[in-house]
Formats: sequence, structure tokens, C-alpha cells
Amino acid sequence: MAFVVAIDGPSGTGKGTITKLIAKEMGLLNIDTGAMYRSLALKCLKLGINTLEEKERIIETAKNINIEIQHNEENQEIFLDGENVTKDIRTKEISAFSSLVSSIPEVRETMVNMQRKMAQNKDIIMEGRDITTVVFPNADVKIYLDASLEERAKRRYKENKEKGIQGTFEETLKAMEKRDYDDTHREVAPLRIAEGAVVIDTTKLTIEEVNKKVKEIINEKYENNSK
Ligand code: DC
Repeated sequence: MAFVVAIDGPSGTGKGTITKLIAKEMGLLNIDTGAMYRSLALKCLKLGINTLEEKERIIETAKNINIEIQHNEENQEIFLDGENVTKDIRTKEISAFSSLVSSIPEVRETMVNMQRKMAQNKDIIMEGRDITTVVFPNADVKIYLDASLEERAKRRYKENKEKGIQGTFEETLKAMEKRDYDDTHREVAPLRIAEGAVVIDTTKLTIEEVNKKVKEIINEKYENNSK
């Protein structure tokens, strides 16, 4: 029986970093679902689709998209229709548009199906916004990572600076606040704390501390399952 760890939370909580670390340390397959919505946003923008007014074209694009997540020793690489887009999907424009395209119910349906297929019969750790509520509501482990907006914006601003992405702290915070609002207020599968999820507030924690807590939760569940 496959073992499923599901992690949700807003951006900047350390979801991506933690998921990568745990996947490596515990030998789980890491599936970053945000990267999938980001790839769709990138494909749409490449096709000249940049508003929700073209909803039908976005739905069609989602149905015909080919997204592959390849894993190597150090990290995961995202391929969109055969092209490596790992870096291209991390821009501010893609962050904003991915949140918009993800509000379309038909797009979510296509993505959720794809995600369940990717996970079939595998021990996985999957992160996103609706993994604990919709994709795998019966996951073995459900975790909700949170942190204050100020702290998350600080982390994202630092990350952007390191990557050479332009913008002030204030702009980073405002963009994050808007995305939080959109992701938690959409009609279908809004970000929320699932029943039975363990909430970890990472505001004052280091990555190592969060990593330790998450591993403890997983190990406890794993041991209980094998009793
Ligand atoms: O986790 P991320 O920042 O890479 O995600 C980008 C956007 O994709 C996010 O603002 C909302 C959407 N998303 C979603 O709706 N459901 C998921 N499971 C993952 C991401």
C-alpha cells in the first residue's frame, strides 16, 4: 500500500524546501503541484493568453498540456511539452497568472487527475493548496504549514534577490497578500486547513526545526501504520 504525505499552505511557508528535504531523506517521490499550475500559466502566456476572459482556451490548453517532473540527486526539473522550464516558471508574472488559472474549476479537475495519476502506487510527498482537502483527503499524513505574511514576504524577498528578480519588499508583500486572498477565496478548492491536518506555524522556526517536526509526524504515523 502506497504511503502519502500531503502538505498544504500559502507561499513562503517553506513547503517547497521542506518537501524536497523530506523526499530525499525518506525516499519519497516529491510532487510539486504549484509547478504544474505555473507550467500551465507559462504555456498560456506563450500562446498569448493572459486574462481569464479567455477561459475556454485556458481549459483547452490544460487538457492538452504535457508536464513532466524529473527527479535527480539534488533537485527536481520541470518539463513543459519536452522543454525544461524549471527556472522560467518562477517569475512574478507566472506567480500571479498561475493563481488566476488555478481558479478555473475545469483546470483544477484536469490537474487533480494528473496529480493522482503521477502518484499512483508510489510512496509520495505532495505539496500545494488542495492536496490535504481534495487531491488526497485520506492521505496518511496531512500537514498545513503556515507563517505570518510579514515573515513569508521577507523570505520571498530574500529568495528573489538571490535569484536576481527585481522588486521592493513592499511589492513582494503586496503581491503575496493578493495571491493569498485569491487562493483562499476562490470558489473551488480554496486553500484551507483540512480536517485532521497538523498545523505548523513556521514563523519563528528554522528550516531544520520544521524538517524535524515534519519527520516526527511522518515517523509516528508510519510506525502506527505498520503495527
Ligand atoms: O505553490 P506555488 O506558489 O508554486 O503555486 C502557484 C499557484 O498555483 C498558487 O498561487 C495557487 C496555485 N496552486 C493551486 O491552486 N493548487 C495547488 N495544489 C498548487 C498551486
